[in-house]
Amino acid sequence: MTSGYASGKAILFGEHAVVYGRPAIAVPVGKLRALATIEEAPPGEGLVIHATDLGVRFRLGTAITPEHPAFPLEATVRHTLRKLGVEDVPDLTLRISSTVPIARGLGSGAAVATALVRALSRHLGHDLSPLEISQLVYQTEIIHHGTPSGIDNTVIAFERPVYFVRDRPIQVLAVKRPFWLLIADTGVASPTKIAVADVRRAWQQQPAEFEAVFDQIAAITVQAAAAISSGQTSALGRLMNENHELLVQLGVSSPELERLVRAARDAGALGAKLCGAGRGGNMIAHVSPKQTQGVAAALREAGATDVIASRVQATTPQ
Ligand code: PMV
Repeated sequence: MTSGYASGKAILFGEHAVVYGRPAIAVPVGKLRALATIEEAPPGEGLVIHATDLGVRFRLGTAITPEHPAFPLEATVRHTLRKLGVEDVPDLTLRISSTVPIARGLGSGAAVATALVRALSRHLGHDLSPLEISQLVYQTEIIHHGTPSGIDNTVIAFERPVYFVRDRPIQVLAVKRPFWLLIADTGVASPTKIAVADVRRAWQQQPAEFEAVFDQIAAITVQAAAAISSGQTSALGRLMNENHELLVQLGVSSPELERLVRAARDAGALGAKLCGAGRGGNMIAHVSPKQTQGVAAALREAGATDVIASRVQATTPQ
């Protein structure tokens, strides 16, 4: 049996503005994982995909329409086989499962696709680079999100914190000193596609105003990158709070997100913001290790359906 894993991710700074060419920072979240396993199947069986969490099982090439929830999986397999130059569909049983919650801004689609590409390419004897994996997963992200910036596939395929600017070579972000985050779920599913489309509509109506907000978000992201890579993490909380206010101006917060952001700050978090597309999904709080338990309890009390503590590890530049 061959397996492939991939982690979830959280965007720390710059979501939405990143779609418009501004920088964003994202980190892998190792506590959330997608797993793909592959076993040889009897000859003539074809390639059968079991997506445990979606509760679906289907054979590649059997009339899955673009509306079907498993369509991105089918597309990922097809793109990978094409990339590897495999013309005849191999006889394989492919199982996918994931602890990354769906439509919560934690990269579930990219995590599942990355695990799948890793497992399938390994099983077929190919060693794809992180960049090749990222590019394949980007094709799947287009199906999920319409006009993705590419940040999810990048951070998940490279498994490193990234400073990401659309259409620019990937920049791994060095983390001088570790820092701690709490990631709390509003329990509200929020498809990225919808929030991104709403921002686009508003930007088309008020281009100058939205461009100005994107520029302010960019300035915060630049400061945050400098703080993370120089180990001055004390600035991060304030920068998160400022980024959150700008996301509110873009119209992507929600009453549930506001409640959690406020609860985290009131309980002593160094800063808090929504993370990802917004409208629902998750928020993040920057905490000192000592505050973790108290802030997590406050978030649960304020209605968080799940709270994950995540340590952003120190790294070196690559
Ligand atoms: O909700 P998520 O984590 O998939 O994040 C979307 C991030 C956006 O900047 C809103 C969209 C994008 O493609 O970068």
